[in-house]
Amino acid sequence: MRFWSYINGMKTSITKMLGIKHPIIMAPMFLVTTEEMMIAAGESGITGCIPALNWRSIEELEAGIKKIQAATKAPIGINLIVNKSNPLYKKQLFKCLDLGVNYFITSLGSPEEVIKESHKQGVKVFCDVIDGDYAQKVEDLGADAHIAVNSGAGGHLGNIPATILVPMLKAQSKIPVIAAGGIGEGHGYFSMFALGADAVSIGSPFIATKESKINDGYKQACVDYGAKDIVVTTKLSGSRCTVIKTPYVEKIGTDQNFIENFLNKNKQAKKYAKMITFWKGMKLLEKAAFSASYKSVWCAGTSIEFTEKQSSVAEVVDRFVSGFEKAEKEFESRRNSP
Ligand SMILES: Cc1cc2nc3c(=O)[nH]c(=O)nc-3n(C[C@H](O)[C@H](O)[C@H](O)COP(=O)(O)O)c2cc1C
Repeated sequence: MRFWSYINGMKTSITKMLGIKHPIIMAPMFLVTTEEMMIAAGESGITGCIPALNWRSIEELEAGIKKIQAATKAPIGINLIVNKSNPLYKKQLFKCLDLGVNYFITSLGSPEEVIKESHKQGVKVFCDVIDGDYAQKVEDLGADAHIAVNSGAGGHLGNIPATILVPMLKAQSKIPVIAAGGIGEGHGYFSMFALGADAVSIGSPFIATKESKINDGYKQACVDYGAKDIVVTTKLSGSRCTVIKTPYVEKIGTDQNFIENFLNKNKQAKKYAKMITFWKGMKLLEKAAFSASYKSVWCAGTSIEFTEKQSSVAEVVDRFVSGFEKAEKEFESRRNSP
């Protein structure tokens, strides 16, 4: 593995495992994460993880990974959707392993095969988990860390707040816990370590960055809207997912309609109804992210609250790192002044 080593920076089991300066993963974001964001994250002392599905074909995935590897020595993470909604999963897995990526983040489905194949080559596997039962399952399968997706996360969110989920997983697990969800600035970042996290995974604050290829409307919405404007919808994939409450989202509502509901409950139709909902939802997101469409369905979490301007990935990392130091100092001075 080709890793950076650092003299300074925060040391945790994850910075040691990955060889990064700051214990931050730039979380994988469908449509949003780009090769340029991955390079900028790596060069800023953190690591980025990109969904394999952000490339349309295996050839594009290969060219993209090679481009990132040529530009930065930082570890590269790939997010694999491991359930049936991703027909390219096996090809993506073996191509990534051939290319020598450093770790995977698995979501939706069993990570068993990914763990087995990756460990043959010393590649790490972190698994998205939202509760203790599932965390136990992936740990038994050999996962190298939990990504603890809490109820404040952007995208597909969990049900349990970070203040419960992180210490709960910490108490039951032997592997590191990476906190994901609702970390918007330095105090939130700092607080995750008090809860017991070994690293954090941050998504939404990286949406409004110049290295992303999504349209300006989506980026500016992350600046203009805040935590109070985030709603949870089941319209996109059938599962609960956070979006910005734009006028269009208000118009179409956040619940599945009568027909979708009926089909999703019907034994025979269920499987197909889910696939159609998922496909339609992904197309809607893609259109809203890349073309001029009044159908503004933009996925983001409450952690956009502190996004005050469009900036670069390096500036976002710096905001978190300096914010952490500020929060730490404030904490010390509060503790010491009666
Ligand atoms: C726009 C967007 C797209 C996302 N796409 C994916 C994805 O493709 N795969 C995945 O595992 N998680 C995805 N997530 C979840 C993130 O990886 C991460 O868990 C989440 O962003 C953490 O919460 P935060 O946004 O408050 O930082 C997405 C989140 C957002 C906001």
